[in-house]
Amino acid sequence: MQIIDELMESFLKELNYEPIMQMFSHTNSGKKLRSKLLLSIAGENELSYKLCAVIELIHLASLLHDDIIDESELRRGAKSVNAKFGAKNALMLGDILYSKAFYELSLMDSKIAAVLSNAVVNLSIGELMDIHLSLDFNADKNTYLRMIYNKTAVLIEASARCGAILAGFDEEAFKEYGKNLGLAFQMIDDILDIRGDEHTLGKPAMHDFKEGKVTLAYIYLYESLNDEEQLKLKKLFKKDLNIDELEWLKLKLTQNQALQKAANEAKKYGNLALEAIKHYENPKLNEIIKAMLDRNF
Ligand code: FPP
Ligand code: MG
Repeated sequence: MQIIDELMESFLKELNYEPIMQMFSHTNSGKKLRSKLLLSIAGENELSYKLCAVIELIHLASLLHDDIIDESELRRGAKSVNAKFGAKNALMLGDILYSKAFYELSLMDSKIAAVLSNAVVNLSIGELMDIHLSLDFNADKNTYLRMIYNKTAVLIEASARCGAILAGFDEEAFKEYGKNLGLAFQMIDDILDIRGDEHTLGKPAMHDFKEGKVTLAYIYLYESLNDEEQLKLKKLFKKDLNIDELEWLKLKLTQNQALQKAANEAKKYGNLALEAIKHYENPKLNEIIKAMLDRNF
C-alpha cells in the first residue's frame, strides 16, 4: 500500500503548490480497501497501482467533502482537514484531489474512465441522499439500502469491475462481488459506530444517530419497539444524549437483537459477494470479505 501512498503524493507534487502538500500530509493513510480489492483481482503492476492511486484520491476527496458536510472534527485518528485548516481549504483540497485524479484517469483506458466517473456521479447522489435522509427519522430499510449502495458501494463496485476489466475477467461477476462487499462494508461501519470506541475507530463513536443517520440497527430497533418506545426513540433522534439516554439506547439495541440482526444482514451480503465469484477461486477475495466482517475499525 506504500507504493500507492507514494504515487498519490507524487501526483500532487506535480501540481507544484506547497499548501496542497502541507494539508495532504495531515491526512492519515486509510485502510485502502478499494486498492486491496483491485490489486487482488488485477494483480500488481504499474497500471493497477496508478489506477489505485486515482481511486484513493477520489475516495479521500469524498471524505474531505463529507467531513465538511458532517462537520466532523476527527478522521482516521487525526484532526480532520476542515477542523485543522477550515472548511474553505478542505473544500478546495477535495476539489484538487478529485480533479487531478480525473486528469490522470482521462489518460487511461476510456472504458475504465467511464466506469469510474459514472461511479462518482452516483457517489455524489448517495451523499445528497444521505443529507436529505438525515432531515427526518427514516425507518424504511429499502431507502437506507439505496442510499448506502450509492454512498459507499458504487465506488467499491467500480473498483472491482475495473480490476476485472484490467484482468480480462467477467465484469458482471466482479461487479456483483464489489456491490455486495460495499453494502456489507457500510453496514459494518454503521454497527461499529454503535459498538466501537473513538480511539479504535479514529472518529467519534455513537455519533450517527446524533448526526441524523438512522442506520440499519436503528431501523431494526424501531421495528421491534412498542408505540411508546418508538416515540421515545424518535425523541432521542439528533439529540445530544445524556448518560441515561445513551444507556437506554445501547441496552435496547442489544436486548432487541437489533445489532445482531444488522450483523447478520452484513454477513448475508458478504456471502452474496463470495457467491458471485465462486468460480474464480481467489483466496485473497475471501480474505477481504472475512477481514471486512471481522474488523473493529
Ligand atoms: C462517508 O459517509 C462518505 C462517503 C462514503 C461518500 C461521500 C461522497 C461525497 C462527499 C460526494 C463525492 C465527492 C467527491 C469530491 C468525489 P459517512 O459520513 O457515513 O461516514 P463517516 O462516518 O466515515 O464520516
Ligand atoms: Mg461523515
